[in-house]
Amino acid sequence: MKPLILINFKTYKESYGNKALELAKKIAKVKKNKYQIAVAPSLLTIKEIAQKTNLTVFSQHTDLADLGAHTGRIPADELKAIGVKSTILNHSERKIPLKFLKEIVELCKNKKIVTVVCASTISEIKKIAVFHPNYIAYEPKEFIGGNISVTEAKPEIIVRAVEAVKYISPKTKVLCGAGIHSKEDLGHALLLGTEGVLIGHAVSKAKDPKKFLEEMLI
Ligand code: G3P
Repeated sequence: MKPLILINFKTYKESYGNKALELAKKIAKVKKNKYQIAVAPSLLTIKEIAQKTNLTVFSQHTDLADLGAHTGRIPADELKAIGVKSTILNHSERKIPLKFLKEIVELCKNKKIVTVVCASTISEIKKIAVFHPNYIAYEPKEFIGGNISVTEAKPEIIVRAVEAVKYISPKTKVLCGAGIHSKEDLGHALLLGTEGVLIGHAVSKAKDPKKFLEEMLI
């Protein structure tokens, strides 16, 4: 399985609304021989990107809701209906209480939706690993959005994160994210035992996102 490069558009002014499809099309042109590239666009642009590009598209969130009388929710069934088969859950900017998270991971498994569940600490990782999601992404909050990457700042904790996940849930793959912005960061993340990275501002805010990614994925 190729390492996963998951690009989170968040709701940056450079990657929201009409700009989201433009950015996704640039990303779709990046050669991806050694990696799988996926995007998590803002929720209001996700359908367009899922339907107009060949990228794997992740929802930035999924709710514990079936189809029915639920206002302002994101049901797994609706994601599937628009062609989205993967979701980020519990991002530190969109936390989900643990008891609901367990049920949402279960729901996604039943619906065959791939889950990337974020965790900010080793203790949170241990609580989430027992749900056996497809991926756990270790993202220490203090480095999100910054220029110092988690791989530079906390290499030893990434190793511990991988160990903690694999001890509890050997099939769950581990990603890391926060401040990832270079080929070196990606290389270190993989050397430390992860199976990919989450990237936010470095791609969304890059002057030339295609060139930036190509240099990173060389
Ligand atoms: O989901 C990705 C993330 O939170 C990391 O963001 O901007 O630090 O790469 P960033």
